[in-house]
Amino acid sequence: MPGFDWLGQEKILGIVACLRALQGKNGPITLPGNAERGKKLFFGKAKCSDCHMAQSKGGFIASDLSYSESNTSADQLRQVILDPVNSLPAQKRAVTVTTTDGQKYAGALRAQDNFSISIQTMDSAFHYFPKSQLASIEIGARSLMPDDYRSRLSDAEVNDLVSYLIQIGAQSPKPDQPSSDDDDE
Ligand code: HEC
Repeated sequence: MPGFDWLGQEKILGIVACLRALQGKNGPITLPGNAERGKKLFFGKAKCSDCHMAQSKGGFIASDLSYSESNTSADQLRQVILDPVNSLPAQKRAVTVTTTDGQKYAGALRAQDNFSISIQTMDSAFHYFPKSQLASIEIGARSLMPDDYRSRLSDAEVNDLVSYLIQIGAQSPKPDQPSSDDDDE
């Protein structure tokens, strides 16, 4: 096996990502729909990108879906999109706090201990409150993820979105691997 140092780190990582996508982690990937149409939906009509990033574009309030585990099955993804209330873990619930001077902040719970709570509001800003400054903390029954996609998207559209997520999940190197932005040019 000859050395490929001459390709440079960036190109090698690109090739590795590409091979991985071709190979899939657990054999070939079968997509339930059309990933290209799914991408359009993600950034368009379905507005997933208001909250989620994918391929470095989109919102910050919810997780970056570029790295959805490539072993997440199509069924699991479909389930989250169609029934987030019952599919997302409790710690992902939305929270509303009211300060002692009557201001309300609603967003995603980011951190909490006995003395303080941090939340991120829909504009992506982080807010830190000592609990002594809060009149109430309400942990919602659900996350910020809309729960009406069942009525807004057709089955085919959901399958397209799922295909897009599976495809980018298979293509993205995991965040804990070296990224391609090596600056030792
Ligand atoms: C108003 C904000 C919002 C919108 C719009 C939204 N989501 Fe979410 N989504 C969330 C939140 C909040 C969670 C909870 C976990 C987190 O913080 O990512 C979540 C979780 C998920 C998860 C599980 C990820 C994980 O890390 O557990 C998937 C998959 C997902 N959303 C897909 C979608 C898709 C596809 C769309 C568009 C059809 C969409 N979401 C639209 C807010 C949103």
